[in-house]
Amino acid sequence: MVKNAPSPRKARVAPPSQKRPAQLTEQRAKTERRSNAAGVGAERLSPDTTWQRRHLLDLDDFSAAEIAVVLDTTDAMKEVLSRDVPRVPALRGKTIVTLFYEASTRTRASFELAGKVLGADVINVSAAGSSVQKGEALLDTIRTIQAIGADVCILRHHSAGAPYLAARESTFRVINAGDGGHAHPTQALLDAYTLRSQLGDLRGRKIVIVGDIAHSRVARSNMWSLTALGAEVVLCGPPTLLPAGLNGAAPDAEERDLPPVRVEHDLDIAIEDADAVMALRLQHERQSGGLLPSLREYARLYQVNSERMAKAKPGALVLHPGPINEGVEISTEVAHGSRSVVEEQVANGVAVRMAVLYLLLRGEQP
Ligand code: CP
Repeated sequence: MVKNAPSPRKARVAPPSQKRPAQLTEQRAKTERRSNAAGVGAERLSPDTTWQRRHLLDLDDFSAAEIAVVLDTTDAMKEVLSRDVPRVPALRGKTIVTLFYEASTRTRASFELAGKVLGADVINVSAAGSSVQKGEALLDTIRTIQAIGADVCILRHHSAGAPYLAARESTFRVINAGDGGHAHPTQALLDAYTLRSQLGDLRGRKIVIVGDIAHSRVARSNMWSLTALGAEVVLCGPPTLLPAGLNGAAPDAEERDLPPVRVEHDLDIAIEDADAVMALRLQHERQSGGLLPSLREYARLYQVNSERMAKAKPGALVLHPGPINEGVEISTEVAHGSRSVVEEQVANGVAVRMAVLYLLLRGEQP
């Protein structure tokens, strides 16, 4: 956790004018999310929902209607990307800074392209090669980016909470591009968009997330968005790679720090009748921490392969946020097979990030 950073789950940095329209309390928001998970929130998928947020830090307090606004806006952005000359001046005059303290291929490249398609100026700053190498503190880097006139900063940081600190201490908008093991909201939005494009309404759909859930910001953000959209989320992995607080550790749902999901340690059972399976990268560094007996054993029990996919619904989708360890968490055959939508996820990432930039900087639906 970054020093002085507010707790990601507790802190809400948006001033009153940027809170959700109904100014929901945390308690009401949780109740509302559960209603969505039960599939009774469809009336709130209203086209009248307006965008009220200043930052995109996490999806833990997003309603189904707000997610739908992003996904519908993404449809409009896909149309722009399909043109012969995919360029529009929607964000002309705006300055976007990507500030990455961790490696990235997909997130960074797609944000850069998204900004350029919308006509913004995009500046890329990496910790490696920047004044961070000379010892500059995160707060000083944030102030520097503010001083050069950034309208939005897209921040990836190894510490959970860093984007909350940036949002609190600056005047620009902040998009969390991944903070430690906490959240990766644009990844979850592009996953939701990809699933919705293929499956339609996600209410009642069974989505299995398998792998290193405990250390995965992608899994955590997906839990919030998919349950908000009414999907049945099943988490699967060895007990050492599942977060505490799921299914019983905190029996009172209000005390849980994660949305209601099902946990199943046996992938052959979890995958039965699944509409989609999302494999997560096995982080090799976990093995040295004694959390896994061996990669071979892990692959034997948890690899998403053809035999296991045969137990899912016919035509079930395979997702992976990338980067992939082929032959470990997913077989090469499945990663590149007919059910895989991995490349579609990457392509949709550009349109989703265009939508997020547009909504944050223009504050309206196109
Ligand atoms: N999925 C994802 O965040 O990929 P990158 O690390 O390449 O950005």
